[in-house]
Amino acid sequence: MHYPMEILPEIQNRKSVIVFEDREVEKEKIDLLIEAARWAPSCFNNQEWNYVFVGKSDATRRELDGALNIGNGWAKSAPYLVAVAADPEKGCNTNGIPYYAYDLGLSVMNLVIEAEHQGLRVHQMAGYNESKVKKALYFPEDFRVVVLFAVGYEGDVERVQDKLMDKIKEKITRARTRKNPEENFFFGKYEI
Ligand SMILES: Cc1cc2nc3c(=O)[nH]c(=O)nc-3n(C[C@H](O)[C@H](O)[C@H](O)COP(=O)(O)O)c2cc1C
Repeated sequence: MHYPMEILPEIQNRKSVIVFEDREVEKEKIDLLIEAARWAPSCFNNQEWNYVFVGKSDATRRELDGALNIGNGWAKSAPYLVAVAADPEKGCNTNGIPYYAYDLGLSVMNLVIEAEHQGLRVHQMAGYNESKVKKALYFPEDFRVVVLFAVGYEGDVERVQDKLMDKIKEKITRARTRKNPEENFFFGKYEI
């Protein structure tokens, strides 16, 4: 392979930011995110994903913020915090694989790429208390909350840096990295 290679800028430039501008996200943009998410492929076209968008002034926001792990405290300042949950029974279970989670992830990734295209940033999280999220947003007991994500315009790190914990500061400034493709992409057969 030859580097650098040029790929879609929405994929190349996407990053999980932790500083969001204190600025509303236009409703039209939220509608575009939803449109992108709903057109994702899914096993048997099941579309087993349920998104709850929670804006800063929504009655459920404070309780949802309270479900975040301490390390994800930065997400409280995001204009929208979104939870995505599904009923595992409603997804495909071919070969015993829980495709509901796979499908939900594909849908989120569609949304993420559209968000980048709209000048927005998305930061996904697994660090939350699932029971608290379910309670805050009235998800049924048998649903699984697969992911939470923050959406908004990227904020100016310089303006808020002083207030951030050292660990978070390090996260902001660290260069994005990936494994070398030889480690997990193969041709013909898998090789250790
Ligand atoms: C399923 C999932 C869960 C994640 N959970 C968290 C999290 O709880 N807190 C956090 O700060 N970042 C979380 N991330 C973000 C990853 O750390 C991030 O995507 C990874 O470090 C690569 O950085 P990049 O997205 O900027 O390329 C999560 C990402 C995914 C896809």
